[in-house]
Amino acid sequence: MTGTSVMSEDTARAFAAERVAVQRALDGYCARWLGDIAPLTAEAIRYALLGEGKRLRAILLLEAYRACGGTGNALDLAASVEVVHAYSLVHDDLPCMDDDDVRRGRPTVHRVYGVPVATAAGLAMVPLAARSAWHSAQALGLSAAVSADIVRELMDASGGGGMIGGQLLDLEGEGEQLTLASLEQVHRLKTGALIMASVTLGARAALAPASRRLALARYGASIGLAFQIADDVLDITATTDQLGKTAARDLDLHKSTYPALLGVEGAIGRAVALVEDGCAALHGEGLLTPALEQLARYIVERRS
Ligand code: IPE
Ligand code: IPE
Ligand code: MG
Ligand code: MG
Ligand code: MG
Repeated sequence: MTGTSVMSEDTARAFAAERVAVQRALDGYCARWLGDIAPLTAEAIRYALLGEGKRLRAILLLEAYRACGGTGNALDLAASVEVVHAYSLVHDDLPCMDDDDVRRGRPTVHRVYGVPVATAAGLAMVPLAARSAWHSAQALGLSAAVSADIVRELMDASGGGGMIGGQLLDLEGEGEQLTLASLEQVHRLKTGALIMASVTLGARAALAPASRRLALARYGASIGLAFQIADDVLDITATTDQLGKTAARDLDLHKSTYPALLGVEGAIGRAVALVEDGCAALHGEGLLTPALEQLARYIVERRS
């Protein structure tokens, strides 16, 4: 996360260090959780998890946790969210979904391991994420009730009322001209829900009061939608090399996108406004730390 106009060098360095720490936590996660999984499926999971991701969801969780006064080591909990995210990418790339060959600058999981193993790997990652989230919450010293809330919230965000529900609507919408309201709903579910959960889980882990959780939920919902709008824009304005995934894929798949409906400038304008709304929601609660503000701005300024 470098090269953005608003991010100071210090912040960029801090996020880079967090990315490395998350990578290390994911490495530890593989060592701890993949033991009882068939070897080839376990290898595919490792491949999916350890590819070069931005680790934005994990970093959001860590920064929300800190903003709410958390002082423990929430890295393993942050890694659990990245497991759900990585699973969503494995399945998103399958031939029956977006049929993609490149992800994180490498061949997609099914390109390397075949469709059956990639499908099984993705499926296995969901219960693993739930188990590791529970374990991480307990390791942070949280009560059984709070730990259960954390697992529930992560699974709710991943399920039919969240990411999976959005992915289904996204597939159903292929070849259709969705209205802006319908597309917003798709984006809020398929991408926004997990980004929102990243920050609210940080708040839960820090035992933040409901008012702070609510402010973070509003921030997360706004920047989560902005993130997918920016993804739509990057699909047509960045190269495969920059993205580490196939550029212009949305056009080929006849997806409805924000730039198709609003134009590139209009879509960027909407994303910027959402980022402002998100930051305002935190400001009111005294939660707008420099890190959370810069992460929000990074979402629309990134080039990958
Ligand atoms: C890609 O997410 C999938 C979307 C929700 C748009 P990211 O752009 O965060 O992917 P990685 O984790 O950095 O590879
Ligand atoms: C995917 O949206 C959202 C997920 C839940 C994975 P996209 O299909 O636009 O993500 P990319 O562009 O392939 O990363
Ligand atoms: Mg998709
Ligand atoms: Mg895709
Ligand atoms: Mg995309």
